[in-house]
Amino acid sequence: MRHTAKDPRLAQAPSDAIDWTEERVETARLLLRPWAMADAPAVQAACADEQSQHWLPLPSPYTFADAERWVTEGGQLLRRDRSGLQCAVVERATEQLVGSCGVRLHPSRRACAEIGYWVSPWARGRRYAAEAVDGLCRWSYDHGVARVELLAAVPNVASQRVAMRAGFVREGLVRSAARAGTESVDAVVFSRLATDPGTPAARPLPDLDEVDDGVVSVRPVRVGDEDAVLDERSDAEARRWATGARTWLRDDVERLVRSAASAWLAGVEARFAVVETASQEYVGSVGLRMTMPAFGVAELGYGMRARWRRRGYMTRALALVTAWAFQRAGLVRLELGTAADNLASQRTAPDDDRLAQPPRAEGWHGRRRRYNPGIGPSSALPDAAWTPRASTKIHRTPLRPSR
Ligand SMILES: CC(C)(COP(=O)(O)OP(=O)(O)OC[C@H]1O[C@@H](n2cnc3c(N)ncnc32)[C@H](O)[C@@H]1OP(=O)(O)O)[C@@H](O)C(=O)NCCC(=O)NCCS
Repeated sequence: MRHTAKDPRLAQAPSDAIDWTEERVETARLLLRPWAMADAPAVQAACADEQSQHWLPLPSPYTFADAERWVTEGGQLLRRDRSGLQCAVVERATEQLVGSCGVRLHPSRRACAEIGYWVSPWARGRRYAAEAVDGLCRWSYDHGVARVELLAAVPNVASQRVAMRAGFVREGLVRSAARAGTESVDAVVFSRLATDPGTPAARPLPDLDEVDDGVVSVRPVRVGDEDAVLDERSDAEARRWATGARTWLRDDVERLVRSAASAWLAGVEARFAVVETASQEYVGSVGLRMTMPAFGVAELGYGMRARWRRRGYMTRALALVTAWAFQRAGLVRLELGTAADNLASQRTAPDDDRLAQPPRAEGWHGRRRRYNPGIGPSSALPDAAWTPRASTKIHRTPLRPSR
C-alpha cells in the first residue's frame, strides 16, 4: 500500500489497534518475530563477532548473560512501550536465527522512525539485511510512519550498501554520530519515505575492482594505503602545485582513506590508487570528482610519488581512468585544472593523440583555456601561503563517431 504526502494517517503514528508484543513481519525468505529465550546462544555468538563488536555499541566482551538480558529485556522494551518493534530475524526455510532488525519511533514526531540491524556472521553475504529492512519499512508505512531514517558509520560500507539496496536515499553527513571500534566517527544519514519507490538507489560511479594495462593498474584507494598517500602528498613538488598548498597530516590521510569507499558509493568522488604492476606498489593516485553530476561532468586531479615520476605511469593511469569514466560510468566530459606553468601536469594529459592508444576511442580535446587567475582557495582553507596563479583547464570528451 502506498501513502501520499497528504495521507492523514501520516500525522499520527502508529495505530494502537495492534498487539505490539506479538507483531510479526514476513518477507520472501525471512520472518521477523519477537525475541525468545531460545535465541540467547545465537545472539551471544553473533554479538561477540569482531564485525558486530566494531560497528555496534555492544558490551565487550559479550557474555551469555548479556544475550539473556537482550532477549528478555532490551529486545522487548520498544514493543512493551509501543514505541517500536525490535525483531529477531529468522530464516523461514530453516527457522535459524540470522540477525536482528529494529525500528524505533521518534519520541515526539512519531511519524518518523529510525531503523537498525545486524546479521549473524554465518548468514552474511545473502542480502538478508536489505530484505529485513525493506520488510520493516513496509510494516512501518502501513502503520502510519512517513519517514524511516538509517545511520551508518562512514567507513561501514557494507551497511551503506544495505541502505541503498533497500531503497534509502543518502541525505548527508552527521558528525560524530556513529562508532567504529572505540572511536566516534561521522555517519551517513539515509532516509526512505512512505512515498519513495523503495527501489535500489542509482549508482553514478559503478564499482571497480581493478583495471590493468600490463604496466600499471588502477583500483579504488583502500584502508592500508595511508602511508603511501601521506608520502605522495607530503612531497615538496606535490605541495608546490597543490591547490591551497595544504599540509597533509596523518589524521587527514586516515580520514580521506576511510571515507573513500563511501564517497565512491555516493557518486561524489572516485579515488583511484595507481599501482605498479610489477612491484604491486602504490605509486600515485587519481581523483575523479563529480562536479556536475546531472550533466555527467567530472574533474580529475592526480599525484605521483617522487620515486616513480618520469616513467609515463600517470599518462597510462589517466588513460585507464578515462576509459572507465567514459565507457563504464557513462560520463560525458572530464576536466582537468592545472596551474598554467605546471608543464609536467599538462604533458601528462596532452592535447594530441598520444593518449589514444588502447584503450582508445577517445582523444583529448586540445582547447586550453586560461581562466580567472584569481582561482584558488577560499579563505576557509588552512594555509594562507598559497599564491594564486593562472590556471589552465583541459577537457576531454569521448570522440563522436564520424558521419
Ligand atoms: C552490515 C551487515 C548488516 C550486512 O549484512 P548482510 O546481510 O551480510 O548484507 P549483504 O549480504 O546484503 O551485503 C551488503 C553489501 O555490502 C557488501 N559488503 C559486505 N561486506 C563488505 C565489506 N567488508 N566491505 C565492503 N562491502 C561489503 C556486499 O557485497 C553487499 O553489496 P551489494 O549488495 O551492493 O552487492 C552485516 O555485515 C553486519 O551485521 N555487520 C556488523 C553490524 C553492522 O554493521 N550493522 C549495521 C550498523 S549501521
